[in-house]
Amino acid sequence: MSWKHNRGRVKTKAPSNIAWIKYWGKKGLQLPINPSLSMTLDKCHTVTELGFELGSMGDSLTCEFYFHGEKNEKFLPKINTFIDRVRGIYPFLNSANFLEIRSENSFPHSSGIASSASAFCALALALEEIQSKLDGEERDLQRAGQAARLGSGSACRSLSGGFNLWGDLAGELGSDEFAIEMEDVHPVFKSAKNAIFVVNSGEKSVGSTLGHSLMQGHPFARARIEQANKNCVKALSCLRDGDVWELGKIVENEAMSLHALMMTSDPSFILMAPETLELIEMIRTFRESQNIPVFFTLDAGPNPHVLYFEKDKEPVENILFQTMIGRCEKGRVIMDEVGAGAKVLESRFGDSY
Ligand code: DP6
Repeated sequence: MSWKHNRGRVKTKAPSNIAWIKYWGKKGLQLPINPSLSMTLDKCHTVTELGFELGSMGDSLTCEFYFHGEKNEKFLPKINTFIDRVRGIYPFLNSANFLEIRSENSFPHSSGIASSASAFCALALALEEIQSKLDGEERDLQRAGQAARLGSGSACRSLSGGFNLWGDLAGELGSDEFAIEMEDVHPVFKSAKNAIFVVNSGEKSVGSTLGHSLMQGHPFARARIEQANKNCVKALSCLRDGDVWELGKIVENEAMSLHALMMTSDPSFILMAPETLELIEMIRTFRESQNIPVFFTLDAGPNPHVLYFEKDKEPVENILFQTMIGRCEKGRVIMDEVGAGAKVLESRFGDSY
């Protein structure tokens, strides 16, 4: 097969996202065992440049990866697995003999933010841009979502902004293959903010492959799937109605359930630190005493994400955060908010890579 161009370079930017309803456990090829719902972030993102050169069909493909300008071999196996998985989706890869990937994250490497979501989303969007330009067609975001998912499940939730649902859910449009952006979101949620309190920036987390596999044969697996489905249905209706209190309760229930599942897995993991519990207590006490809707969620790590809304910014940031900051490592807090999703920043074809 011959393509319209044989060289090119595209640059994309993709945000990370934070799950309000957690994806925990997989089946088949990166399909989730339960639906999840996330908020797309704005400031925590990856910028990726992908250069390619085409040869002949069946040529072997060499891939080079640079992270913050330095050649990086550590992430290459994961990238190569990803490239092999998406060859069927992006056939130009079967004629490519060289790929150069250059990535930079806006957030510190060990800040407790999962970088795989933004990294694979940026890479999938770059591949999507190349394939659609070579075919002379419009970009297909569902196809890009399927590709992103094959790199990292949560990456498919970063393509679009706002709130994204990934996974089959009765009565909703959700799909296990890719995420969809929720429409009709109440304005209050469009002003949602997310501050990450870094209590431990070390690598004290469960790797995703091991983490998700803990759900196989987990004694609470069936109950978890049922809980996530119910939580997701309720969360979507809160998102539409603007019910911040009910949705906040669900989000905290999800974070605690994720950690409870890890604690009761075999092997068992405790990923919360003493400071995590102290911060959770502070958030709950402040919420109850001030009657302000401020909540927390957690990833598979110890750093609480505080969720709140624009209208409550002043008391939350000036009073609550001032008491919390002393529990953080070097006072580190990463402030973020709802973002608009991934973008193609530049795209050049035919001249150089
Ligand atoms: C706890 O998407 O990182 O953050 O598909 O193996 O790459 P892989 O896993 P990943 O898992 C995210 C798990 C989580 C919850 C969530 O983001 O939904």
